[in-house]
Amino acid sequence: MKDDDALGKSYSAVVIDHINNPRNWRIMQNSDGYARITGSCGDTIEIYVNVRNNVITECTFATDGCGATVACGSMVTEMATGKPLVSTRQIGKDAILAYCGGLPEGNVHCALLAANTLKAAIDDCIKMHKASWKKLYRTTG
Ligand code: FES
Repeated sequence: MKDDDALGKSYSAVVIDHINNPRNWRIMQNSDGYARITGSCGDTIEIYVNVRNNVITECTFATDGCGATVACGSMVTEMATGKPLVSTRQIGKDAILAYCGGLPEGNVHCALLAANTLKAAIDDCIKMHKASWKKLYRTTG
């Protein structure tokens, strides 16, 4: 978490709650889908998904990023859990911002990073389903 995070200063109550009590912050072993993306700011987020009958049963994340990234990872995993796999591809930056009541301008890219990582994890899940042998060669997630 970066030093310049000023909790309570410009974050909504929802964001502060997710920063202080992140949901689903857990590295999953042998997940059905995994993605790791580093944003232009240098922060990285990882997202893991497990799927049964085309529904996301588990969605977890890990990050070395700022407080807003922690909140966005937490929120996007909550938004995705229990949803049909394909429809969760539509969870974008704007959906995360609407969910939490917005972010300061300088942190909007944190929502984009979380949304893009979720999309990539879902794409990985679809790819692994089509060719599950590839999972044997995945080095993490
Ligand atoms: Fe870059 Fe939060 S400051 S992801």
